Parts: sequence; structure tokens; C-alpha cells
Amino acid sequence: VARVWKQLAELLDHHRQLVDDTERCETFYSAISQVVRPGDVVLDIGAGTGLLSLFACQAGAKKVHAVETGVIADVAEELFASNGCQDRVSLFRHPSTELVLPERVDVVVSESLWNFGIGEGITRAMADARRRLLKPRGRLIPEHLSLRLAPVENPELEERLSVWARPTFGVDLSRVAVLARNNVYHTELDRDSLLAAPETLSEITLGEEPEVIRGVCEFVVRRRGTVHGLGGWFDARLCGGLTITNQPPSPTPSWKHAFFPVSEPIDVRAGDLLRAELQCVGNESAWRWAVRHYPASNRTPARELLHSTLRGFPTALERAAQGERLSATV
Ligand SMILES: C[S@@+](CC[C@H](N)C(=O)[O-])C[C@H]1O[C@@H](n2cnc3c(N)ncnc32)[C@H](O)[C@@H]1O
Repeated sequence: VARVWKQLAELLDHHRQLVDDTERCETFYSAISQVVRPGDVVLDIGAGTGLLSLFACQAGAKKVHAVETGVIADVAEELFASNGCQDRVSLFRHPSTELVLPERVDVVVSESLWNFGIGEGITRAMADARRRLLKPRGRLIPEHLSLRLAPVENPELEERLSVWARPTFGVDLSRVAVLARNNVYHTELDRDSLLAAPETLSEITLGEEPEVIRGVCEFVVRRRGTVHGLGGWFDARLCGGLTITNQPPSPTPSWKHAFFPVSEPIDVRAGDLLRAELQCVGNESAWRWAVRHYPASNRTPARELLHSTLRGFPTALERAAQGERLSATV
């Protein structure tokens, strides 16, 4: 009971942060007010507390289908009733990909954006909704994602990762160092930590069937420093001219930044070239990234560091070999 109570308190606090994020709420509120017409039918994927469903009701939707897999759906149910919208909103407690509706909807809205934009399954959920549940001329909010990437210096996270490389009271923990450096983290980046100008890794039109999300970026290093990993963030176009971003320093408390560590720090100088390749598969659950360093001086040879989240958990490779879809691609 104590564990459930603690988890619920953390969940409520997470959603408190989301509803208390003025920038996020204002941008979604404006987009919903612009796109939803009186009498529309709306689908809210990942409704959480039901906030966006209630925005859609305020914009005049005659019906809202809210879908939420988490226990926060209980809160949404309460809020739909206490806001007098229980007759206009129907709540489904399963993944949107299992939703069957009696009618196609005019608008699909979803705020299930991770720190890198993708990472919580938004591409597959939106493509599925467009194919099965949206009217031919219906609209998606957001409609487009741009994924941005930059090499970053992050001594604080590097220190946390390097703990595993140090023996502790005679115990060798270095096997964990390999796992730790093949996982994806979130961190808070500022502009000074970026060692090169950010590049766009991928442009994603939401609603299109997601292929493997993959991109390559080349960076010219702008100052001497040490690359500890790649930092990632997003620009999401909700509709027309309305965009929300968490570019560093993040203007919103809802999102930090994605961090893909490198297996060993890379010392760089201004003018060096870094080539980063990043791939995301398995409904945004598995990642592979590679960083290649070409020193401008040419005195040291190029280095290549390869990483995959399949190497980031002790049994992941075994599970993949047993037939998980990831094995073929990562
Ligand atoms: C960041 S919260 C957003 C909450 C709410 N939309 C808001 O704006 O305040 C994302 C929620 O989406 C849910 N979710 C993500 N993908 C989903 C899907 N395909 N079907 C149902 N729920 C989903 C998660 O359980 C999570 O509670």
C-alpha cells in the first residue's frame, strides 16, 4: 500500500507540473481553440488529467473521446464530471491503437511528447489514429516534429556514469559502466554546454506511417572541450504558426533534454568534425547511436564510438534473440 501511495503522489506531482506549465498549456489551448470547430468530434490520445479534452469541450466539441492507459485516467474521470462534461467525453483506459470508434473524428490531439519529441510512441499512435480514426480532411495537433541534436559537454552526468568504472571496496563494477553508457538519459542543457551549433536530425510529419526514425548530423566543433554525449530536443508545430520547443535552456518545466552518452569522453578542438548517426526503432523504445570524430589537425586518427540500448540492459540481447522485433534493426 505504501508503495502505491508513493507512486500516486509522484504521478499527481508529475501532472501538477504539466498543468502548471503556462507555456505548454497556453500553446495547446491556443492550438485547440484555432483548430476545433463547434460541433467537432475530437480524440485526445494520452489524456492524462483530461486537460486537453476539457480545452476541446471549451472550444465547442460536441464529443471528445479521451484515451489514457495510466491510472491518471481516474483523475480525468473526476475532472470530466466536476467540469460538467461527463456527457460529452467518453474515457477509454487502453492504448489508442486498440480503440474502436463508431465514427471518425475531426481532430486528434496528443501531448505525449518526450524530451526528444519521440520516445513515448507518438509517431505510431498518430499514424494509427490518422489511418483508422480520423476523417480524410481531419487535423492532427501536433502536426510536425523537428528533432534537433548537438554534441555536449556534461561533466556532471559524466561523473555519474564514471562511478561504475571505479572499483568500490575491491568490487569491480565496470560491467555496469558498459550498460550505463548504452542507455538514454534526460538532463538539463544550457547553451554553453553545446560544443557545436545544433543540427536537425529528422523532420517528422505526424500521421505518416513511421519508418525507422534515423538521421545523420555533421558538426563543426566551435570550441575546445570534451564531448560527453549527444543532446537532443524538439520543435513541435501544433498548427499553423504555433510551435512549442524545449531548446536549451528549456523554456518549459515539462521537458528536459535527451542525453545519449558516449562510451568514452572525446577531447575536441575548434574546427574538428563530429559525425553523429542516431536511429530509433521498436515504437520509440530502442535507440542506436554512433559518434565519429575527425580531428582537424589530423594528428590523431578518427575514432568511432558505437552504442545501442540493446546493450544497455543485461538480458536485452537475449530477449531480442528470442524474437523481439528489435533484433533485426538495432
Ligand atoms: C505527458 S502526459 C499528457 C497528459 C495530458 N494530455 C496533458 O496535456 O496534460 C502523456 C500521457 O499519455 C499517455 N499515453 C501515451 N501514449 C498513449 C497511447 N497511445 N494511448 C493511451 N495513452 C497514452 C501516458 O500514459 C501519459 O499519461
